[in-house]
Amino acid sequence: MAQRQPASRFGVAIGLWCKARGTEGRAARSAPARAAVSKHPRSALAAFRARYPQYAQTALLDDLRAHGYARLDREHQVYLDYTGGSLYAISQIEEHVALLNRYVFGNPHSINPTSLAMTKLVEEARHAVLRYFNASADEYVVIFTANATGALRLIAEAYPFEDDGHLVITYDNHNSAVGIREHARAQGAHLTYVPLVVPDMQVDETALFEALDQPDTGSKLFVYPAQSNYTGVQHPLEWIASAQERGWDVALDAASFVPTNRLDLSRWHPEFVSLSFYKMFGYPTGVGCLLARRAALEKLHRPAFSGGTVMAVSVVADSHVMLEPPAAFEDGTVNYRPASPGAHWHRHDSHSGELSDQLVDRAARRRASPHWHAGRRDPRPTRSGAARSNHRDQPARYGWPHG
Ligand SMILES: Cc1ncc(COP(=O)(O)O)c(C=O)c1O
Repeated sequence: MAQRQPASRFGVAIGLWCKARGTEGRAARSAPARAAVSKHPRSALAAFRARYPQYAQTALLDDLRAHGYARLDREHQVYLDYTGGSLYAISQIEEHVALLNRYVFGNPHSINPTSLAMTKLVEEARHAVLRYFNASADEYVVIFTANATGALRLIAEAYPFEDDGHLVITYDNHNSAVGIREHARAQGAHLTYVPLVVPDMQVDETALFEALDQPDTGSKLFVYPAQSNYTGVQHPLEWIASAQERGWDVALDAASFVPTNRLDLSRWHPEFVSLSFYKMFGYPTGVGCLLARRAALEKLHRPAFSGGTVMAVSVVADSHVMLEPPAAFEDGTVNYRPASPGAHWHRHDSHSGELSDQLVDRAARRRASPHWHAGRRDPRPTRSGAARSNHRDQPARYGWPHG
């Protein structure tokens, strides 16, 4: 691999060099270190590397940035909106263009060779999603949608809220999840909001379990974000099993969680998971998915059919027969060109994928460390699920779930 000097690390070294030349730096550093940093930014970098050898551990990240995201330095951009959407690596675009340039692809709903070629890629992408989330194909189905909102709408429209159904949602759900309430209400379901508690904006667990413990006879759906895009709080995934033990189906909105965290569906088993791929790897937009447990899908009743979802329709007998999932839930033609190439999963499957895993693990370890919580009023690690709150006696009720 060619040796490069990415601007970002070089910039850090220059910053340190300047700082080291200041009074504070002079006082704090030994004579040899001062001599090393006072010459030139390049020797400052060398001195810095010698002093902090662990800095080299993330060199792969610099390489990734220099190769895949060179436009950031070129355009002098600092991009931080990773809940809004992630950045694509240039390799994703190049691989996709090369694929489209090389082969002839048709609509995957047909059976000519070009269509079969496309179908193969779409199915490969489906398997790549299952692999990435460590989900068994016996347990989960990947239903391609336009985005997380589309995934949530599929649940909203088809969940059997009639006959004494119940919907429990947290205050900090995205509006696309809160919107499920309109479908629930239209079917006469009960609705319970679970409030947040200040100052940490965590969900009030007493209120949550009071809501989940209510006796109901109908179908019960609990919807919450694994990470709230509103507060940034990561809610305990342990709630999934707790709710299921009480007879609830769980829809986990993972749209803002999965870009920087692994969701292991061999460990956690929510009935439904909604997500948008552009939030994970920037390109393509317009493709997301509903990951749904096969057993849970059997419970859903789609309010209508459309092209792509039915095996047979009779206009004479006024009847129709739905296809099996996932087709039964994919209206019309999937966004097949962008959805297809496994290349979009490359970042997660390949060398650089290992790095992103390392970084995700490191971030998780940092969050779990006592230092991360030092200075916070509530020392509970965000993912523990343990009972908490010295602020529960004064719960603040917020009323602005947002989108
Ligand atoms: C937690 C959460 N859920 C759902 C969505 C909706 O995603 P989309 O607009 O891609 O459908 C977002 C988008 O920011 C989100 O952060």
